[in-house]
Amino acid sequence: MRVQVVDHPLVAHKVSVLRDKNTPSPVFRQLTDELVTLLAYEATRDVKTVEIQVQTPVATTKGIAFAKPTPLVVPILRAGLGMLEGMTRLVPTAEVGFLGMARNEETLDIITYAERLPADLTGRQVFVLDPMLATGGTLIESIKFLFARGAADVTCICLIAAPEGLARLEEAYGDNDKVHLILGALDEKLDENSYIVPGLGDAGDRLYGVA
Ligand code: URA
Repeated sequence: MRVQVVDHPLVAHKVSVLRDKNTPSPVFRQLTDELVTLLAYEATRDVKTVEIQVQTPVATTKGIAFAKPTPLVVPILRAGLGMLEGMTRLVPTAEVGFLGMARNEETLDIITYAERLPADLTGRQVFVLDPMLATGGTLIESIKFLFARGAADVTCICLIAAPEGLARLEEAYGDNDKVHLILGALDEKLDENSYIVPGLGDAGDRLYGVA
């Protein structure tokens, strides 16, 4: 598994403003969008391309196009939706699938409550959007699900991660070179309610303003 915490002042600045509890929802949404675009730039470094010919007004030259099958972007409901446009802006030909994952509070198992994905992901590069990597349970299940459908590789983009969640992902996929993780920040720890500290609170609530 390749893990990259994107080290750039523009990323650090946007993460700082997202953390501020006084940042209102509209600004939070806008900054999430901008931050995802910056992270997507790194996340798509290994996107598969093919060589094409481009006719400029002056000459014919070599260019590139995204290879087929096109990448698939999968926001994890609900908070991952706030990251969708920032990603598709950079990869406009990508297809979009949806995964809804939630924790059963009694068993603590992760259940898939919604799924709208192509049945066959053979050869697809998949980009998973989930703002907060807290315990890691959701991402581990999502990655498992996508590989079971045949995904070629899975790149997860998260705004903030906790070391505990990262450790669980390393345990599950540390040896798998088809899993990549792109982070805006790696924080200190999880609290007793599995919130990331210092974090930014509940990303879904901050984005959409309702619980
Ligand atoms: N999900 C969130 O939205 N925030 C956290 O801190 C942890 C999980």
